[in-house]
Amino acid sequence: NSDRADTAIAFVYRGTFVHSTQQTALEILEDALLGVDAQGKIAFIREGKELEKLSQTFGFKTSDITQLAQHEFFMPGLVDTHIHASQYSYAGTALDMPLLQWLNAYTFPVESCFKNLEFARKVYTQIVRRTLRNGTTTACYFATIHTEASLLLGQIANDFGQRALVGKVCMDRNDCVKHYKETLQDSQDETCRFIKELLEKKYPLVKPVVTPRFAPSCTGALLEQLGEIAKNNNLHIQSHISETHEEVKLVKELFPESESYTDVYRKHNLLTDKTVMAHGCHLSDEELALFRETGASLSHCPNSNFSLCSGVLDVRNVLKHKVKLGLGTDVAGGYSASMLDAVRRALDASKVLTIQDPQYKTLSFEEVFRIATLGGSQALSLDDQTGNFDVGKDFDALRINVAAEGGPIDLIQDEEPKILLEKFLNLGDDRNIVEVFVAGRRVVPITE
Ligand code: GUN
Ligand code: FE
Repeated sequence: NSDRADTAIAFVYRGTFVHSTQQTALEILEDALLGVDAQGKIAFIREGKELEKLSQTFGFKTSDITQLAQHEFFMPGLVDTHIHASQYSYAGTALDMPLLQWLNAYTFPVESCFKNLEFARKVYTQIVRRTLRNGTTTACYFATIHTEASLLLGQIANDFGQRALVGKVCMDRNDCVKHYKETLQDSQDETCRFIKELLEKKYPLVKPVVTPRFAPSCTGALLEQLGEIAKNNNLHIQSHISETHEEVKLVKELFPESESYTDVYRKHNLLTDKTVMAHGCHLSDEELALFRETGASLSHCPNSNFSLCSGVLDVRNVLKHKVKLGLGTDVAGGYSASMLDAVRRALDASKVLTIQDPQYKTLSFEEVFRIATLGGSQALSLDDQTGNFDVGKDFDALRINVAAEGGPIDLIQDEEPKILLEKFLNLGDDRNIVEVFVAGRRVVPITE
């Protein structure tokens, strides 16, 4: 925890900070001072009593300090490791079918509409605003197969100041909605164009991610090409894996030469330490070992898993295998775009497992808090930049007022910070999130 005294301090907050570290799921720092430098990085986080020494070292004035109120605290921004920006228009509906039918009946027809850039602009603006407002400082997005609309999503995330991974979806196999797919050649060429054009924009916080939709939507040839593209450009990779039993069975039929679903991706060089796979509800221990070996991570999307009746991920077992794990909303399979909902559904999913087997050790709210913040940043290989309040990381943070006027929480008495965090995670909403910072820039309240 060494300070960085080499840059000018932009602002300083004094009050309670809560975050996760590798060692502890919840570290609480009361009456702390956190300074952010002109680059948006955390310059110091120290005890309040060190004020005098710090202000001399860093050359800031007491008037640069903002004091948090009694019921306020800062926590790291929430990391949504899996969300379909293109599915936001029907979030909260269409939850009456299992995955494969749901894709054909609702998802593919809607995603086809993103050929129309004005429709894309409308939906993408709303999802970025909504997620930021709800404290998602980093989002890992699926767009659609359309390059122009996918580039537009990158631009919108950049304009609003959200940290984002953006994927143009790749699929050269679709037997049901026949117009919503690409040829092998187009998928390859357009992926390369998407990556090139997005990188040329030099958005500081937005990166492209290679995005095969999932094995059933792709031929082996496409998977192989995408593995190559990711490797040659050192890019992130995202997809879906082992979400439902029916899907696992289909993959077995489509890729008979592979030993498992995980083996399909591994064979095509799509399992790397920059890969994040959504769901994984039905992975075997052998497959989890492959994740661990390759450094690939999982995104736990409990709302979606309940809503589409897909399965219940055994998070304890994933953690036991030391596989990196983040949380995802998976809009619109998950009906809520808020990561607070994902936190609650993750706790519910763990309780379901305890109901089935009372010996099962339910996840604590502190553990889920870590998965939603530091865990997510690790799952996206962004933990050198974000995820907690370590000195040198970007200041991605939520200023929480648990007793916000007109908000959902009534505080009967003063509470300790741990209780304030627990109340916020279980009962809070965007009314409690009074400020959101990404890389030191205040992005909420949103100013037009
Ligand atoms: N598997 C392949 N595509 C999708 C999708 O859009 N949503 C979910 N939940 N699973 C998928
Ligand atoms: Fe998904």
